Amino acid sequence: MSQLPNCITSPHWWQLINWIADPLGFQDKYSRMYGDMFTMRLNKVSGYVVISNPQAIQEIFSQDSKFEMGRGNYLAEPLVGRNSLMLLDGDRHRRERKLLMPPFHGERLQTYAEQICQITQQVASQWQVGQSFVARTAMQKISLEVILQIVFGLSEGERYEQLKPLLTSWINLLDSPLRSSMLFMKVLQQDWGKWTPWGQMKQQQRQVHQLLQSEIEERRTQGSEARTDVLSLMMAARDEQGQAMTDEELKDELLTILFAGHETTATTLAWAFYQIHQRPEVREKLLAELDSLGENPAPMEISQLSYLSAICQETLRMYPVLPVIFPRIAKSPVKVAGQMFDAGTTFMLTIYLVHYREDLYPNAHHFEPERFLKRQYSAAEYFPFGGGSRRCLGYALALLEMKLVLATVLSQYRLALVEDKPVKLQRRGFTLAPQGGVPMIMTGKR
Ligand code: HEM
Repeated sequence: MSQLPNCITSPHWWQLINWIADPLGFQDKYSRMYGDMFTMRLNKVSGYVVISNPQAIQEIFSQDSKFEMGRGNYLAEPLVGRNSLMLLDGDRHRRERKLLMPPFHGERLQTYAEQICQITQQVASQWQVGQSFVARTAMQKISLEVILQIVFGLSEGERYEQLKPLLTSWINLLDSPLRSSMLFMKVLQQDWGKWTPWGQMKQQQRQVHQLLQSEIEERRTQGSEARTDVLSLMMAARDEQGQAMTDEELKDELLTILFAGHETTATTLAWAFYQIHQRPEVREKLLAELDSLGENPAPMEISQLSYLSAICQETLRMYPVLPVIFPRIAKSPVKVAGQMFDAGTTFMLTIYLVHYREDLYPNAHHFEPERFLKRQYSAAEYFPFGGGSRRCLGYALALLEMKLVLATVLSQYRLALVEDKPVKLQRRGFTLAPQGGVPMIMTGKR
């Protein structure tokens, strides 16, 4: 059996607690101690080889078919269900991904642009001059609405009115590191009714499933051929054997997209607002670029602006929503960084440590969008959306949404940060989010 490199010696339960409470501090500590590759243990059984060397990461991305990734995501099953794309491997993953890909790319994406701008205007129009709001909460309202309209195909009616607050409340049950630990520790997953945190989670999940089931049944009886939302496309799709997706599969994929797609985008947007308003010169430069398009620019023109794109890239560099990408489990013995690893070895490629490498990103703790205008980074040097065959399904939608939301808000409103102090990162479920959500105030209109 091959030896795993640089094993952390503290007990596995202590490593798990630290990983849940402060995944970035954890990675900083051990990368300082061991360098680009070390092994952590979060349970009794397996070690995770954490890698921050772009060369080694490139080797893993380019040997994609030698790894399983769905199996390593088992912790997400209680939330998204066992038919989730995230948990699938092999042919089934390939098939399902092929089916889900088209609605999130190419021309289809352009048709969502208007909807995203309208939703943003609707949410921002509720802000009052002199009143504060929490940027992350406002962004979550926008990104939830985007998923409800584009993916679920819901924008009005009783079911929409019920689903919207229910989804928000369900997801917010994971808004602290303590509550998030339920996801990592099976022992806390006890459904003893609504008085226990896990019981509450499960109860709200059942309500969500019921509402989605009714929606699916209604569309089946009423027909959904004319509709263009992702749910209708999934219902119409057939695999090579002519089989349609089952109701369970449909619901699991809807919730996967919901979980993977809306919190991530909302959090990144909140960080972008934070950085833009901390650095007046960045804001001025961005406003000049937005103004150069004149009145009412076409959304696709906005999405091509170079400084705006660089701001989004730099935000995603500094604030990876997922500290590491999906675990890669070797299916057979594999060579990485000149070392042989046994079948079954799990690799964790860390976005965070790579994105803060001083050799790639000098002055890495500073927000400098210009670095993305000066230099191109390879897929293993910059990977906020992961890589290889698992690369984020919604990356193009996420980037489009980020650019359109920033442009729509900043060209119409003057905002300021409420507090002049650094915002810390805090765990939120599987993701990392700004503690306090970035309180802001609307100071006037432009
Ligand atoms: C800023 C926003 C987002 C970030 C930072 C992000 C990041 C990621 C990352 C790091 C992965 C893992 C990739 C890997 O292991 O190689 C992933 C997977 C995924 N993301 Fe995103 N994501 C974002 C938005 C979205 C959106 C908007 C959607 C859907 C509309 C989405 C759907 C998914 C799905 C379904 C997967 C699983 C893909 C698979 O297993 O094949 N994400 N995302």
